[in-house]
Amino acid sequence: MDDVQISKMTISDLDEIEDVLLSDFDDFWNITTFRNELLNSNSEYIVAKINNKIVGFAGIWKAVDDVHITNIVTAKKVRRQNIGSTLLLNLIQMAKAKNGITAITLEVNSNNIPAQKLYKKFGFKVVGLRKKYYNNIEDAIIMTLKTRDIPQSMRNTFR
Ligand SMILES: CC(C)(COP(=O)(O)OP(=O)(O)OC[C@H]1O[C@@H](n2cnc3c(N)ncnc32)[C@H](O)[C@@H]1OP(=O)(O)O)[C@@H](O)C(=O)NCCC(=O)NCCS
Repeated sequence: MDDVQISKMTISDLDEIEDVLLSDFDDFWNITTFRNELLNSNSEYIVAKINNKIVGFAGIWKAVDDVHITNIVTAKKVRRQNIGSTLLLNLIQMAKAKNGITAITLEVNSNNIPAQKLYKKFGFKVVGLRKKYYNNIEDAIIMTLKTRDIPQSMRNTFR
C-alpha cells in the first residue's frame, strides 16, 4: 500500500468527504456536525490520505484534564490496512502534547468489536458502561488510556 499521509482536516476536505460519507465510510455523523466541529476551538480533526485521496478521518475534543476521542473512521474499502491505527496513534500524540491532560477517553458501541480491538491494541482499558447510550437501545463501553500509561514508543513524534 502507498504511504498514508496525516494532515489537519480542512473545509475543503469536508467538501470531498460530504458526497461519500455514508457510502464509503458508513459514518454516523452528518456533515453539519463536522462543519460545527471544525469551528469549535476545543476540537481538532485529522484526515488520512493516500495519493491525495481521503481514506480516513478522526477527531478529539479537549476538556479540562481529559481528551475525548469523538470519531475515528476508515473508508470501507481500505479497512484492516493499518489506517485506523495510524489515525489513533496521531490522536494519542496530539492529546499527549496538550498541557494538563491525564487521560484519553472514548465511548464505543458494545457491539463494535473491531473498534474495541483497535483501542485495546493501543492500551485503552474498559472503565465503565453507559446503558442504552445509542438510540436508547445499544450500550456504550467507556474506554480510557491514562497518559502516564502511553508507551514510550508512542511518544516520540508530536504533531
Ligand atoms: C474501527 C476502524 C476505524 C478500524 O480501522 P482500520 O483501518 O480497519 O484499523 P487497522 O487496520 O489499523 O486495525 C487495527 C486493529 O484493529 C482491530 N481490528 C480492525 N478491524 C477489525 C475487524 N474487522 N475484526 C477484528 N479486529 C479488527 C485489530 O486488532 C487490528 O489489528 P491487527 O490488524 O493487527 O489485528 C474501522 O473498522 C471503521 O472505520 N469502523 C467504522 C467506524 C467505527 O466504528 N469507528 C469507531 C467509533 S468508536
